[in-house]
Amino acid sequence: MAEVEVPSDAERRARELREMLHHHAWRYYALDNPEIPDAEYDRLFRELQELEQAHPALRTPDSPTQRVGAPPLDRFETGQHAVPMLSLENAFDAAEMREFDRRVRERLGTDAAVAYCAEPKLDGLAVSLLYEDGVFTRGLTRGDGATGEDVTVNLRTVDNLPLRLRGEGWPARIEVRGEVYMPRSGFERINAGYRERGEKTFANPRNAAAGSLRQLDSSITARRPLVLCCYGLARLAEDLGLPDTQAATLDWLAGWGLPVSPERAVVTGLEAMQAYHERLSERRAELDYEIDGTVFKVDAVAAQEQLGFVARAPRWAIAWKFPAEEQVTVLREIGFHVGRTGAVTPVARLEPVTVAGATVSNATLHNEDEMRRKDIHVGDTVVVRRAGDVIPEVVRVLPERRSPNASVPQMPTECPICGSAVVREAGEAAHRCTGGLYCPAQRKEALLHFASRTALDIDGLGEKIVDQLVERDLVERVDQLFRLGKDDLVALDRLGDKSADNLLAALEAAKQTTLPRFIYALGIREVGSATARALAQHFGRMRELMAADEARLAQVPDIGPIVAHEIATFFDQAHNREVIEGLIAAGLTWEEGEPAAVQPQPLAGRTYVLTGSLERMTRDEAKERLQALGAKVSGSVSGKTAAVIAGADPGSKVDKAHALDVPVLGEDDLADLLERN
Ligand code: IVH
Repeated sequence: MAEVEVPSDAERRARELREMLHHHAWRYYALDNPEIPDAEYDRLFRELQELEQAHPALRTPDSPTQRVGAPPLDRFETGQHAVPMLSLENAFDAAEMREFDRRVRERLGTDAAVAYCAEPKLDGLAVSLLYEDGVFTRGLTRGDGATGEDVTVNLRTVDNLPLRLRGEGWPARIEVRGEVYMPRSGFERINAGYRERGEKTFANPRNAAAGSLRQLDSSITARRPLVLCCYGLARLAEDLGLPDTQAATLDWLAGWGLPVSPERAVVTGLEAMQAYHERLSERRAELDYEIDGTVFKVDAVAAQEQLGFVARAPRWAIAWKFPAEEQVTVLREIGFHVGRTGAVTPVARLEPVTVAGATVSNATLHNEDEMRRKDIHVGDTVVVRRAGDVIPEVVRVLPERRSPNASVPQMPTECPICGSAVVREAGEAAHRCTGGLYCPAQRKEALLHFASRTALDIDGLGEKIVDQLVERDLVERVDQLFRLGKDDLVALDRLGDKSADNLLAALEAAKQTTLPRFIYALGIREVGSATARALAQHFGRMRELMAADEARLAQVPDIGPIVAHEIATFFDQAHNREVIEGLIAAGLTWEEGEPAAVQPQPLAGRTYVLTGSLERMTRDEAKERLQALGAKVSGSVSGKTAAVIAGADPGSKVDKAHALDVPVLGEDDLADLLERN
């Protein structure tokens, strides 16, 4: 094959570009401290890509352009690890750690405290990275420890993996060991995408990382948010002059641009080991990656060599595991929790099980869709997870353990607390109790809203007082606020004689209110202060509003069908009407006005479609005038369309109308229609 001639200036520029891109990628990924804006990086990257396209001979294996993936493989090649990849012994408590440390000291023949290099045990998958003359040439999975799968092209797509080592002076051949993982944030993001598209999601970040790295199509891997963290070096016989401690080795790796854990530390003696482990455990939930314990390695390499190995694990290292965050148990039944906003959440009642050190007998199922997505049945064997301060949740079911009489749960139609209707609005994930003011679960929130400045503005009725009023069963419904006596109030914590008098005076003053304030104070969903004002103006009287049906409500300016539906549902609840009567009986008054004239609705129930351009009015005007007469205006023609109104140059809607036998009217017919009605 003839040598391909590449102009020397192109070759020089390609080298320059590679150097710059390596440098900036290192600043960005390893130091988190970029020197240039992303756009500038992208520009340099494109320039290199173009050069390589013009002269393919310039495309080196360490070129940053090689991160984007290569053609799919049929299967992975395998490769031999120069030094076997071992596993770690586990310890589950302080006693086992003490035993480990004792054995280490015994074998080393010392009573002195031993220095250990500590770092998090990352929950991803182990890889071995070969760098030859500073260039990343091969990456293997752990496999059986002696032979692994060759995932080099996939690893090249991992952004923070250096394709070439920084600096100089590294041994000609080194095998770096580390973990590839998927950060929690990236995991949530890609799973959200799958969920949206109705595709299968990954069970946890570890599976997601493994599934992504072991992809035959590296362009898929390239789109997955994978991260590398290096934790060691396979010591090859030919390597001379390597650092003599584990901690110094990690610093050395970092100096070459390899990512290492920022949590790494040297701890000496059992007490310090325990403190490190506890501190890490406390911070576990804050980290953006999953860890399942601490790895401790005897820091001195000479001591490691003296200790050697047993079976498949070194005697000089151990993983102190955190208590497991996931456990398997049986879901006995489903309960429903009603929150402060009325959201009704399904809760799994479980066979009690210890998860991460605490007994768990309830776990959230979030909402109906989540329950369906996870295919939860009552009686299922399930995996529960409790991580940090997060509420325990059911992660998945084990369908292979499902009994034939397991049943599909249903969401309630009535609130388990107050008996009001439970509804799920279109486009919302949550079911909600419509009890509002009446529902005890929503009472505190409802009281605070009722007393807020924009509502009845009851000075002195804050959170601390409201909590006590509800917890001591002094106020079950907002109207009972006005029945409180001084004796009730002075009995509360933090409420002196004077404050009690002030609160009573504020309650008395609040009785004289306005209709917009009163409507707003009821806490009807979707009804803010502007809507409350519009309702008051339109209906004039409270009784008119309470009697209005959805169609009437939708005539109020700026009130659409969704809000109209919320309002009608609220007033449909007998409990809510009782609260209103109670408030009136307690002496609340406001000025009433005349209802606005109700427009006749001769075109109610008829749907029109507008198409083409009109001469005498705009399409929007025509739409508004039709709507004012009660008609609906839609964008698409169906068998139910009353007529299509076509101006000049109409589109395909007219053809569709003809096909469906829907009448087609002209602009004159429209004028007629508007005039006649
Ligand atoms: S050291 C001979 N350090 O845990 C030393 N391993 O159970 C062997 N792992 O296969 C590994 N974080 O996948 C080491 N900081 C860390 C680690 C770590 C995660 C994984 C690794 C290994 C497994 C052993």
